[in-house]
Parts: sequence; C-alpha cells; structure tokens
Amino acid sequence: MKKIIIAIDGFSSSGKSTMARQLAKEIGYVYVDSGAMYRAATLFAIERGFVSNDNKVQIDRLISALPEMEITFSPVCGDGKQHTLLNGRDVEDKIRGIEVSNLVSPIAAIPEVRLRLTSIQQNYGLNKGIVMDGRDIGTTVFPQAEIKVFVDASAEERARRRVQELQEKGENVSYQEVLENIQQRDHIDSTRKESPLRKADDAFVLNNDKLTREEQLNILVELFQKRIQKIENRD
Ligand code: CDP
Repeated sequence: MKKIIIAIDGFSSSGKSTMARQLAKEIGYVYVDSGAMYRAATLFAIERGFVSNDNKVQIDRLISALPEMEITFSPVCGDGKQHTLLNGRDVEDKIRGIEVSNLVSPIAAIPEVRLRLTSIQQNYGLNKGIVMDGRDIGTTVFPQAEIKVFVDASAEERARRRVQELQEKGENVSYQEVLENIQQRDHIDSTRKESPLRKADDAFVLNNDKLTREEQLNILVELFQKRIQKIENRD
C-alpha cells in the first residue's frame, strides 16, 4: 500500500497528540510529536542556565549551544508511548510540567531553534508512513503532506482537559493558571513571525469540543482510507 504523510496541527491542548498517536497505531505508521521536541529544547535551555529568574532567555548563548542538543525518541515504552530523549536521557515527564510549558512558546519562536528542529522533523518524513503533530507541520514542515488536519476546541475545554491530565500525574495546578498558560501560548504561537500557527488552506478542520476519542479516531481513519483509495486509483 502506498505510504503518505499526515500532518496534524492545532491549538495547545486540543488533544492533537492523543489523536495522532492513536491514528498512527491504528494504521501502522510512525508517530512523531514535534511539540515534545520544542519542549525538550526548552528543558535544554533551562538546564544549561540560559533562562534567568525573571524568565528572560539568553538567546545568543542558547543558539551557540544548539549543536550540543540532541533530541530523539525511545521505542514505545510500557505506557504505550515513545519517550522523548534529550542527549540520550529520558525527559518525558519533565517536559510536560508547567515550568517548561510556561517557557516553551518564547523558545519555539526563536528562528534558529525552529530551523534545527524542522530539519530533524523533515528527516523523519523521508520514508513517508508518518503522522506528525504540531503547529506548523502542514504549513512549513510538510507543506506537501497528503492529509492535513487542523484541530480546534475552545480554550476552556482545552484547559479543563489539561488540568485533569496534570492532576492525574500528581501535579498541583489550578484551572485558572492552566487557562492563562493556554491563552498566552495560543497568542504567541499564532502571532510569531516564524512559522506561526495557522490553518493550511487545504486542511480539514476538526473541532473536537464534543467528540469522544473514539469518534475523532473514526473520522481520521475514514479520511485516511478515502485519501489512500484516491491516490491508488490515480496511480
Ligand atoms: O501539548 P500541547 O498542545 O500543550 O503543546 P505541544 O504540542 O507539546 O507544543 C508545545 C509548544 O511547542 C507549543 O505551544 C508551541 O509553542 C511549540 N510548538 C511549535 O512551535 N511548533 C510545533 N510544530 C510544535 C510545538
């Protein structure tokens, strides 16, 4: 069967990652979480001491250190997920906390950081058969992707889901704090100069405010099957 690239973009905490991971598993594709890479780059900046107490990033020092930053993924672990590795160390839990979440958007707005991560992401797509989720996958990383999905949900619903997820992991966060973080990231992500978050013209919009995980997976699998059929009929 012909292999394609599937790009899933959308606002923060819209459930893209779960959706993309489930889809990849269902159709036997590789899944890549591009947001995890920006999160790992943020942790790298924090750990190297490039972020001061008032959350200012020393951009020049970070850019100079980028050649020493290696971001990869482990094979699927016991929790059914591939873990993010920063210079070989499993940082999966650390990159999901509020400290990294609060800093990731400014760091992801640095063009040199984007250039570095975009090129790694494009390499993952060389053999196709990949589902990647993020903010600029259908617009910048794989503008030629055969399927592009743009996921949307209200900020309030997204905050509610993220609070639940963090609380299940034992992190003590308030709804208000998470909602503010989401709204702030939406703003930075969609107004930055370099590869802002925006819907690709040819993307399918999926609002999942009222959809269960199963329902959204069914929509995506159907989209995939139709697209593959069309491509195979054409060739
Ligand atoms: O999981 P959540 O939706 O909260 O975010 P994420 O996908 O883990 O991405 C974290 C942050 O990385 C986003 O808020 C963006 O600032 C940045 N990002 C990006 O700029 N480009 C991507 N392709 C993916 C993430």
